[in-house]
Amino acid sequence: MRILVTGASGRVGSRLVPRLLVAGESVRALVRTSAAGEQLKALGAQIAVGDVRDGSAIEDALADVEAVIHLAAAFRGVPDGEAFAINHQATVDIARQATRRGVMRFVHASTNLVYPGGLGRPAREDDELAPARRAYPQSKAAAERALLDLHKQAGLPLRIVRLAFVYGEGDPHLREALQARGRACGRCLLPAT
Ligand SMILES: NC(=O)c1ccc[n+]([C@@H]2O[C@H](COP(=O)([O-])OP(=O)(O)OC[C@H]3O[C@@H](n4cnc5c(N)ncnc54)[C@H](OP(=O)(O)O)[C@@H]3O)[C@@H](O)[C@H]2O)c1
Repeated sequence: MRILVTGASGRVGSRLVPRLLVAGESVRALVRTSAAGEQLKALGAQIAVGDVRDGSAIEDALADVEAVIHLAAAFRGVPDGEAFAINHQATVDIARQATRRGVMRFVHASTNLVYPGGLGRPAREDDELAPARRAYPQSKAAAERALLDLHKQAGLPLRIVRLAFVYGEGDPHLREALQARGRACGRCLLPAT
């Protein structure tokens, strides 16, 4: 299958793309600079350079693609407006283009932070979205709602994956979290991302 992976240079993407290639998939990796795509190119991925907010770059990246795995996101360190532009608006724009092109699958990486805190039980996928009042969870929840509308109204073949705390294989996330925990209050388990 020909798969476009956005956010391919990120922590999840840079580990997912090699696995897709090993599994025999044909991968086009969207990265923001060609330097960021060097390693993935060496492994056999086709590289598309562009910003998810750039409609024409996305149009090119989507050419002949059968599935999209949309990982690109702005986590932290960006103004709120930029987080919404990347996590919400660009996500919807990519999904609209993917729908028009008739992709067979659109996988959207969301976050467990769309759930309300303090449920006292494991969250369920049909729980109401209640993201904290911060740009990252709010923009991810807004994207989910818009993608579900596209699914219902235009047939976007959508799967939403609500990732929680991803770590492993050379990923500094766990170490960073433990370091941050050292600075946190005694009752905190993990710092909010
Ligand atoms: N890691 C976790 O624990 C976790 C938990 C919950 C949800 N998620 C979700 O999983 C997905 C992947 O997370 P991650 O940990 O791999 O994040 P990451 O390491 O921050 O990677 C984000 C990726 O998005 C790209 N990106 C950001 N803004 C972009 C833009 N305007 N245009 C094009 N690309 C852009 C980044 O490119 P550059 O490399 O150029 O910066 C990077 O490749 C995200 O959607 C995130 O919300 C992750």
